[in-house]
Amino acid sequence: MRTDGMLKEGSLKGQTIIVTGGGTGLGRSMGKYFLELGANLVITSRKLEVLEKAAKELEEETGGKVLPLQCDVRDYEQVEAVIKQTEEHFGNITNLLNNAAGNFVSPTERLSARAFETIIDIVLKGTTNFTLALGKHWIAKKQAGTVLNIVTTYAWTGSGYVVPSACAKAGVLAMTRSLAVEWAKYKIRLNAIAPGPFPTEGAWSRLLPGDLVKKFDPAKLVPVGRVGEHQELANLAAYLMSDFSSYVNGEVVTIDGGEWLMGAGEFSHLEKIPQEMWDMLEASRGKKQ
Ligand code: COA
Repeated sequence: MRTDGMLKEGSLKGQTIIVTGGGTGLGRSMGKYFLELGANLVITSRKLEVLEKAAKELEEETGGKVLPLQCDVRDYEQVEAVIKQTEEHFGNITNLLNNAAGNFVSPTERLSARAFETIIDIVLKGTTNFTLALGKHWIAKKQAGTVLNIVTTYAWTGSGYVVPSACAKAGVLAMTRSLAVEWAKYKIRLNAIAPGPFPTEGAWSRLLPGDLVKKFDPAKLVPVGRVGEHQELANLAAYLMSDFSSYVNGEVVTIDGGEWLMGAGEFSHLEKIPQEMWDMLEASRGKKQ
């Protein structure tokens, strides 16, 4: 396993990347690596204080330039304001990472209609808002751009107990593939990453509070036997944001140690059969032949 930076120095030089939900968690880790590779960074979220602190720390850690901007992705006017302010500050925008998300883990019948709507609004509407606003901007300016969307492996399988998130992420995946084709003529490229379990302070304590994280240890569901390291995700994101991946378009790359396929394989649960039992089965088969 390698957890150092993968791309060569300066791979994102001259690029300005907006990361929604960029002040904390995975968004921050990816943003940090973009800075290390020479990009300018814009981080957005609803909490300006958190963003300002993160921006200061990231600048100190990397020597790069970070613009923190408050924005609720559900509000199209706020999204347009981020694009305007970024242009004024950095002169240009080249990339968008739609990373902001929300999730309620719950039996679906316990969710209120507003709760369901809240997740759809943050995940699906937030992503379409930013992509539409920036796409219009790029097309009007005749400028190339690259969008990367963070989805999840249950975007295509669906999943109980996170149904609003599954619906929204499926929509984001459909948008990624649709616009990758429609907007290729404008030199706008869209891809997605479907991460498996990558521990973060915020999401994990909220989604699996208290002892739940021990009881449902996510590493146990991953064939490679561990959760992901943030730099592993950052390496993939940086590649998909860079011009090295300019022939990759409309793709969703899974980075989950094989987790979702283990759930899908009809006989994968036979992992639980001990070696001695396989020996016995083999011996009994031998007798019959
Ligand atoms: N489970 C079920 N319903 C919940 C909930 C929970 N944990 N938390 C809030 N709700 C419901 C509320 O009751 C409300 O519905 P109601 O008006 O019918 O009672 C509705 O959802 C909206 O709640 P509200 O607190 O107003 O939403 P918000 O827009 O202020 O914040 C989030 C929503 C998702 C942004 C917020 O919960 C949050 O910051 N979550 C952390 C981010 C996150 O989930 N990250 C994980 C990424 S995978």
